[in-house]
Amino acid sequence: MRILIKNIKQLVQVDFLQNPDSFGTEQTSKLKIAGKDMKNLSCLDDAWLAIENDKIAGFGKMDDWEGIADWSKLTVIDATDKLVFPCWCDSHTHIVYAGNRESEFVDRINGLSYEQIFERGGGILNSVKRLQEASEEELVESTLKRLNEIALQGTGAVEIKSGYGLSVESELKMLRVIKKLKNLTPLTIKATFLGAHAIPKEYQLSRQKYIDLIINEMMPKIAEEKLADYCDVFCEKNYFTREETIEILTAAKKHGMIPKVHAEQLTHSGGVLAGIEVGAISVDHLEFIGDNEIEALKNSETMPTILPGAAFFLNLPFPPARKMIDAGLPLAVASDYNPGSSPSGNMNLMISFCCIQYKMTPEEAINAATINSAYAMGVSKTHGSIAIGKQANVFITKEIPNYSFIPYSYGSNLIETVIINGQLTMNNGQ
Ligand code: NIG
Ligand code: FE
Repeated sequence: MRILIKNIKQLVQVDFLQNPDSFGTEQTSKLKIAGKDMKNLSCLDDAWLAIENDKIAGFGKMDDWEGIADWSKLTVIDATDKLVFPCWCDSHTHIVYAGNRESEFVDRINGLSYEQIFERGGGILNSVKRLQEASEEELVESTLKRLNEIALQGTGAVEIKSGYGLSVESELKMLRVIKKLKNLTPLTIKATFLGAHAIPKEYQLSRQKYIDLIINEMMPKIAEEKLADYCDVFCEKNYFTREETIEILTAAKKHGMIPKVHAEQLTHSGGVLAGIEVGAISVDHLEFIGDNEIEALKNSETMPTILPGAAFFLNLPFPPARKMIDAGLPLAVASDYNPGSSPSGNMNLMISFCCIQYKMTPEEAINAATINSAYAMGVSKTHGSIAIGKQANVFITKEIPNYSFIPYSYGSNLIETVIINGQLTMNNGQ
């Protein structure tokens, strides 16, 4: 399969260093973008882009285009007045779940807090009960629908967590569902084990026993079946302490899983420093991050990640995104798609939140949702920018004046065509 997109009004987030063998080395493509550099978004006006099989094969200015020599198996798309972006990378989701939680949404409107709902046995534990009752087939089917939905919204790579199982059997069930989904969708999927999402009811009085179960029973089985790339912990008051987070993630590393942390979401929990200590690839949420943590992140390879959908949906204070970028940090954005705190995986909307609520520029928000979120899920060598040899995951917009129009038009779907792994997966309105 070959695709040529021509007459592109603007090709967004291009990386000119074109030797795929040298990705990540000094002379080539950036794997993340930090601080002041986040204000720059490299673009090419009046451009073409060529795709061969599942990879980006070339791009350039129409003026320098040499025309088509070989028409065999070639699909030509005219993108006059349209923009082409690398697909969004959504580095934090809980997209495998059973049932929704709109009754808790109503309870919160009527005055209960997220914490109060959890304390009376709802919240994450509500989703756990429903997931434990669901079959693998049901979970695959309902998640596929959501994956198709986010693909139509321009997402090409997604990280998916377990964490609604909270028993050996149900955590493995969730991770096996994620593994199956990898073969059922062209989206790039990374799996994260989140057995430490909450303490199940039956272990409330013996929490160390549950942590031992995670470490001694769940992790070896997950490693044996190679079910998870990452391991995450919800480091939060009433969930897991900083010390427990370090204990769990240190064990995870021995089983080949790279740490991630849900950090400083509802309180100043210590999750960021715990994450840095164990070499986490990302620390996510950050509503209650302090200056110490910002300083510590400067000397780390850990990607701070904001999840504006959850902060919006739960009416949380906003994380200090401006302060983090101004301090020289990189920043990624993800959707946190889940039934309790962010029932949307729409990355276009997340970018709008970044710009409107967090005062990030469109360039910063787009960098956060492409190359930096690719880094946060370990795929920035292959995703997150337009570069020769990278995965052919791109979307073509409707006719729009410029890239700022995406965050500006919050709530609109401005994406017309999505190409994932070189496959035209949607062609809406042509
Ligand atoms: O990222 N904070 C913990 N986990 C999820 C919420 C999960 C849920 O409420 O079901 C989050 O916000
Ligand atoms: Fe989350």
